Amino acid sequence: MLASIAALLCSIVLILGIESSCDETAAAVVENGETVVSSVVASQMDTHGKYGGVVPELASREHLRAIVPVVREALERAGVSLSGLDAIAATSGPGLVGSLLVGLTYAKSLAFARGLPLIAVNHIEGHIHAVILESRRAGTPVELPALALVASGGHTHLFRVDENFAYSLLGKTRDDAAGEAYDKVAKLLGFPYPGGPIIDRLAPHGNPLAVRFTFAKMKGNALDFSFSGLKTAVLRWVEARDLTADIAGRRALARTTPHASLEEWLAVTPPETLDLLASFQHAVILELLTRAAASAEQIHARAMIISGGVSANAGLRAAARAAHLPYPVHFPSPGLATDNAAMIAAAAFPKLLRKEFAGFDRRRRQSQVGIKQWGWRFRLPNSESYDLRRPRGRGCRGWQTKPSAPLLSREPVSLPRTAAIIRPWISPRPRAPTCWYCFLSASEASATCCWRLERSTCRRCSACIRRRICKPCSIRR
Ligand code: KG4
Ligand code: ZN
Repeated sequence: MLASIAALLCSIVLILGIESSCDETAAAVVENGETVVSSVVASQMDTHGKYGGVVPELASREHLRAIVPVVREALERAGVSLSGLDAIAATSGPGLVGSLLVGLTYAKSLAFARGLPLIAVNHIEGHIHAVILESRRAGTPVELPALALVASGGHTHLFRVDENFAYSLLGKTRDDAAGEAYDKVAKLLGFPYPGGPIIDRLAPHGNPLAVRFTFAKMKGNALDFSFSGLKTAVLRWVEARDLTADIAGRRALARTTPHASLEEWLAVTPPETLDLLASFQHAVILELLTRAAASAEQIHARAMIISGGVSANAGLRAAARAAHLPYPVHFPSPGLATDNAAMIAAAAFPKLLRKEFAGFDRRRRQSQVGIKQWGWRFRLPNSESYDLRRPRGRGCRGWQTKPSAPLLSREPVSLPRTAAIIRPWISPRPRAPTCWYCFLSASEASATCCWRLERSTCRRCSACIRRRICKPCSIRR
């Protein structure tokens, strides 16, 4: 095992990453988990912009349109063909179900057709690896244990990161994510989607202390975040004034000039609104940094990682620098802060070393597929012959190739009908509950209760895995 890992480390390992969890279709080729050979991101901003947020159904359709050209472009730019890859990694969750399905199914198909290992990557872990990738490349690896703050449009989570990339959840938002708060405030004031970048550009033109927002006091876990109170305070502020004409002016600008310049936005935003934006951004930064610093202190962190779309925020970066924290604070470069596939391929590299591969069904499975260079290889049913009888075991598990359970029959049979090919990959209902987001089984779940109920939560993404609807985040399983 050690010899095989050493052999892998000495050679060049190319992983194709695919990301489609929300409104970006992305593909990237990353070498040895630290060099981005190519990275292509197709944004759906123009599609969703007119609705002021992501429309899940439209997102899935756009992913379907973009996935093939985006992957081709990433491979072309990297100057590598599919046969030159060592593994394919794809985001398996959390995210929009329809969107995830497109990227994951495409990755599965490629891996299946090419006999490549498939690696399922958690999107939040991907964001953490965007920073780890760059710090390794720069020769200043992140020291562990580290505190990771992932703040994006869908998540605001605090994790302790230990050796071998083991994560413990320390706190998370109880309502809106930080990026979501940016997007909702922007929409309320007539700015286009996504709201984060435009508020970030306008905030320096206002007074951050003009509007006093109260800091959310959390009962229970003091490391949890809350942004809904802040969002409501902004709504009350807007309702108390007659801003209808201003908001209509900005909506008109967003409609007529999708890529308006800062000067154009400043021309339609009065000083009072600029003050509101600056104060809102100040409150978000305070909320994020205060709880992140408290968590880092609690775990005696040797470094802090701030990642996710909101980490692109210039105000947040400046505040983190100005705080003079007693450990280094690592941010991704702006291109890797928002969703991209390089972070997915980077997060897949340690999994490749650990042979932590995904199966072709819904469930996560370890070490069932061999790696090209060493060990046994994943063998696909070929068109000439294979035994259709189900080998030992229930469900699709028995159909996976293992050296001890060959699929090839002694007497060749012709390739069966499509239905027969498909059936082996459909697994029966899993007996133990499985996390819908990251496919961890109940045995791997933590026993901590979810929303003070005696329920299991997924150790990796903390989704409630025994209930149909997760109480804290009201996500349906
Ligand atoms: O990580 P990401 O691309 O997608 C998700 O995983 O959700 O993050 C997108 C979010 C959006 O809500 C967007 O408003 C926010 O990140 N965002 C920003 C900035 N750039 C993007 N928020 C604050 N300041 C920015 N500069
Ligand atoms: Zn993201």
